[in-house]
Amino acid sequence: MNNRDFIQAKAEGRKLSMVTCYDYTFARLLSTSAIDGILVGDSAAMVMHGHRSTLSATVDLMRLHTEAVARGAQGKFIVADMPFLSFRKGPVVALEAAHALMSAGADAIKLEGLEGHEDVIQRAVQSGIPVMGHLGLQPQSVHAYGGYRVQGRKENAAKAILRQATDLERLGAFAVVLECVPASLAREITAAVRIPTIGIGAGHGCDGQILVLQDLLGLTTGFRPKFARPFLDGARCVSETLARFDEAVKAGTFPTPEESYS
Ligand code: KIV
Repeated sequence: MNNRDFIQAKAEGRKLSMVTCYDYTFARLLSTSAIDGILVGDSAAMVMHGHRSTLSATVDLMRLHTEAVARGAQGKFIVADMPFLSFRKGPVVALEAAHALMSAGADAIKLEGLEGHEDVIQRAVQSGIPVMGHLGLQPQSVHAYGGYRVQGRKENAAKAILRQATDLERLGAFAVVLECVPASLAREITAAVRIPTIGIGAGHGCDGQILVLQDLLGLTTGFRPKFARPFLDGARCVSETLARFDEAVKAGTFPTPEESYS
């Protein structure tokens, strides 16, 4: 898969699956899966580092995670997130950040929003960097929203998101993530653009879906948004397995002679 295959998949009516990944171990597992694309999301700041928002992600942090994923997921299409403000300080700084992520092993970058950094998107595309957009709920703007809220419920806001999606297509983006928008709006956008829409909390009318890997594996504890279906009870598997190890150690049944060196 690559950015062109994404557009082709939409043209042929094939759905696209994407998950986030931040580390080598999961990247190795993903490399043998049928998942179409991996996002090294700035959600790494929250999922891997325990920050309260994605605002703490930096270019250095994203570069390290991208390198680890690229080592493990060879042959997979890897998109890396441009972190908070890295694309808002002018095109030179933005292209340096994009350069760092692409040389870390990304095949494409993702940027939230559009207004005020159209030039960055255009320059990246013209420089040979595939760009994925991200509209609807943009977690890097959580303070502006006053919390994580569904976007595009009012007519004006919906029109603005639709316009931004068509602008992204015009600027050369190869795909767009639609996060937390009404399913009807996501369907309308999906019908209006030739580039694939990848939904998260945007209903089933999108051309593809993305979830945070730890959410779909049921490893996330605490608040879980309703769209983040756990396909496994990972937290229970992990805690039961840890309990079995603890019991075996304390009962003296681990390690056995076969698990020891003579
Ligand atoms: O960083 C991330 O995990 C994302 C997904 C929510 C699309 O941007």
